Amino acid sequence: MAAAGIAVDVDGALAHLEAFLAREAPGFEYRHDLADVARGASVAYTETRAIEVDVAADLAYLAHFGPRAVVAVARAVAALPADRRVDHVVDLGAGSGASALAWAFAGARRITLVERSGPALGLAKRLLAGLDVAVDARAADVLQAPPVPGASHLSAAFVVGELADDVDVAALCERVAPGAAVVIVDAGDRPRARRLQHLRDGLVRRDDVVVFGPCPHRDPCPALVRERDWCHDRVEKGLPGRLAAFARLVGRDDLHMSLAWLCWGRGQPGATPGVVVIGEPRREKGRARVPVCGPAGLRFLQVLQRDKALFRRALALPRGTRLPTPTAAGASVAGDTWSLGTELASILPVDANHDGGGDP
Ligand SMILES: C[S@@+](CC[C@H](N)C(=O)[O-])C[C@H]1O[C@@H](n2cnc3c(N)ncnc32)[C@H](O)[C@@H]1O
Repeated sequence: MAAAGIAVDVDGALAHLEAFLAREAPGFEYRHDLADVARGASVAYTETRAIEVDVAADLAYLAHFGPRAVVAVARAVAALPADRRVDHVVDLGAGSGASALAWAFAGARRITLVERSGPALGLAKRLLAGLDVAVDARAADVLQAPPVPGASHLSAAFVVGELADDVDVAALCERVAPGAAVVIVDAGDRPRARRLQHLRDGLVRRDDVVVFGPCPHRDPCPALVRERDWCHDRVEKGLPGRLAAFARLVGRDDLHMSLAWLCWGRGQPGATPGVVVIGEPRREKGRARVPVCGPAGLRFLQVLQRDKALFRRALALPRGTRLPTPTAAGASVAGDTWSLGTELASILPVDANHDGGGDP
């Protein structure tokens, strides 16, 4: 994803988390007892709707799920416009503070944590201690949380999927942090992702809301047409040594994560041209095909292998990359496919690792 806006110092946040865990649980990266707890929480989270109250208060939980929150928030806030400074963030379902840690490393000066688990809040306060950010911890149900006037951003990381289906999430965010830019991240599985996509489809019908990402268009989400579909993002975790070692001990995917996310704010929706890469580029016989979503729904960008440099660039496109609408640049359309020729090289970003080399 092009870093359009807010940047999280992910390396700094993960280093802080790692050092904190090493202080609280020396040698955590080798401890099978912690890994067993984390594995159990991970399985429960994947297979059930929600984790038990207070599970997030555990160091094993923080060591396993903490990096996920940092990386996910960083991914989503990159879509926010940079002209709105991160100042006061309300973090709904703050758990043990990993999502708030990401916001602290995005430059937040003040963070209000809203969390029903007192022990989790206690751990969050210890995690955030020593950082240059004022922390206000509120033990409350997010559905009952009193408004926080003047907040610049509202964050809800890995919590929306735990709320009852009939909770109006947009109304909740507006009530708790009126006028704030909203960032929601959640796991990339079907129910959680579809919930955000339904939420997005409601928001794009409003003329006082700008959806910053992940979609570059305001059409209905094509992934909602068939009940079995959903759209999700996938990012590399890039864990530093001890967090990576612990992730390997836990035995779940330690390199990548799937997530769903959505960012929006108050404003006049403008034209948002372009398409976004929604899956891995596929190498087929004599061509590369890149799945994209845009105003015309789901399509493929196609590049023939004989256009060598373009072909390499297409295959190297990461999920989440935004590109100009190919038709605007003159690409030919046939069925679900936009065919790009060498004259359209300007559409594809140059990848330093893949350009200028030999045959792929
Ligand atoms: C999966 S954890 C995520 C924690 C943190 N945001 C992160 O990303 O690391 C979800 C948290 O939301 C809290 N939570 C769930 N439903 C809640 C509610 N209705 N009110 C307050 N907290 C809630 C849980 O207690 C848990 O700590």
